Amino acid sequence: MEVIIRPDRLSAVDLTVRLIEKRLRDKPDLVLGLATGRTMEAVYAGLVASGVSFARCRTFNLDEYIGLPATNPNSYAHYMHTHLFSKVDIDPANTHLPYGMAPDLKLAAREYEDRIAAAGGIDLQLLGIGQAGHIGFNEPLSALMSRTRDKSLTPATRQQNAGMFGGDAQAVPSRALTMGVGTILEARELLLLACGAAKAGVIASAVEGPLTSRVSASAIQLHPSCKVVLDDDAAAELTGREYYDFVFSNEPEWAEFREETDR
Ligand code: F6R
Repeated sequence: MEVIIRPDRLSAVDLTVRLIEKRLRDKPDLVLGLATGRTMEAVYAGLVASGVSFARCRTFNLDEYIGLPATNPNSYAHYMHTHLFSKVDIDPANTHLPYGMAPDLKLAAREYEDRIAAAGGIDLQLLGIGQAGHIGFNEPLSALMSRTRDKSLTPATRQQNAGMFGGDAQAVPSRALTMGVGTILEARELLLLACGAAKAGVIASAVEGPLTSRVSASAIQLHPSCKVVLDDDAAAELTGREYYDFVFSNEPEWAEFREETDR
């Protein structure tokens, strides 16, 4: 795992955008795993502004609420359309989200896994992190080998997402269809972005704490190619910062990003 700490949210987002953009330019038919949520809005705005082509890219989102049709403004299908898909040259047929309206959710979950496999697996999976430590909607005690399935959301997650539902946590659907932790770990590369002081505790647990299903994001420690991009506030509780900064300043892979972000 590599931890890259930037001085503020803007530069953390900027570095994340540049990394995704580079992967897309290097491999135009990239299979890209996508996340939703507040943190990602600026990433999608940055990708749109970059002008990078998504014409051959295929995307798979991490999750979708159960019971919200794509026409519902709070569905993740609607979110993706608004923030990214309607603004870039992606072929809608190449965009995939778990189908939270499926009459048979177990079948829909299996079919989603099949679609990822048929695309050759995910090259780069973008991740946020919830205050309960989730990646996707893998709430505490999600098996570290779990696959796409329906999951009940914790009260903490419904509270965290209430802002998009008029501030009413009860209005947030209680269940979601989500890629499993095991599904996420099969992506060839992981890129987790977290910003803000509210994420500092959970980032310290995920990055430096023990591997535990109580914090599903701690599973990223198992991944051979994982980057965690943070702003100063989200990094506040990390103890190994000096070393992480040293790596970022010295690894040849980061040279072009150091120059661009330090401009
Ligand atoms: C959403 C998802 C979630 C979010 C996480 C952070 O697709 O996978 O894990 O990334 O809840 O959300 P924000 O960015 O709103 O704090």
